[in-house]
Amino acid sequence: MTTGTLSPPNRLTEDRETYSQAQILSALSFAFRLSKRESVSAQNIDALCNAFAYVVDAKSPFTYHHSVRVAETAESMARHLGMEPESVVRIRRAALLHDIGKLFVPDAVLHKKEGLTQDELDTVREHASLTEEILRCVGAFSDLATMAGRHHERLDGSGYPRGLTSEDLTLEDRIIAVADFYSAMTENRPYHQAISHEDAMAVLQRYVPHKLDAACVLALATVRGGGIPVA
Ligand SMILES: [Fe+2]
Repeated sequence: MTTGTLSPPNRLTEDRETYSQAQILSALSFAFRLSKRESVSAQNIDALCNAFAYVVDAKSPFTYHHSVRVAETAESMARHLGMEPESVVRIRRAALLHDIGKLFVPDAVLHKKEGLTQDELDTVREHASLTEEILRCVGAFSDLATMAGRHHERLDGSGYPRGLTSEDLTLEDRIIAVADFYSAMTENRPYHQAISHEDAMAVLQRYVPHKLDAACVLALATVRGGGIPVA
């Protein structure tokens, strides 16, 4: 068994709209070499999560840096909520990997500006269950599969893919759901322009408490600054 530490790809620059093919290949090759190992150190699991996040974010200029932003936000929220260090690490890793299922959604659908057909919407929504399936197949990631696959679930059962409710969703799940929703609203997408922090917080607040966890939204407001806007 090999026990040394592999070198992760050079830190990818943050001022580009998309990563170069060489950078993506470097991240994939690093991930592949790690996956051949019998055991993976915590340091290398983190590097592997980062590598896959870079690959997912590189798929489209619209998802550029999304996974990394969700991870940074979710990690800050988890710390603010006083979660145990092991939980904070799990949340960061699951957030980095939460959209890995999008690798299987065609760009033509992901980049579509006009409204999606029901079939296309179903295809996009499938990414959440694909994320769970993919992660469950990779030993080092299997314990993150459930959490990562739940990032579009809502407390009232209106989310997907399973329509879980508050009884099923843990604080970890709720943190990632809020961090993902906030990040998506404050980033450009083919079908909408990024909105401001204040406007995004106002939207999140409208979904409290039936869809989103109140404590998580408050934690986000605190760690991102600006507080909760008065309606
Ligand atoms: Fe997603």
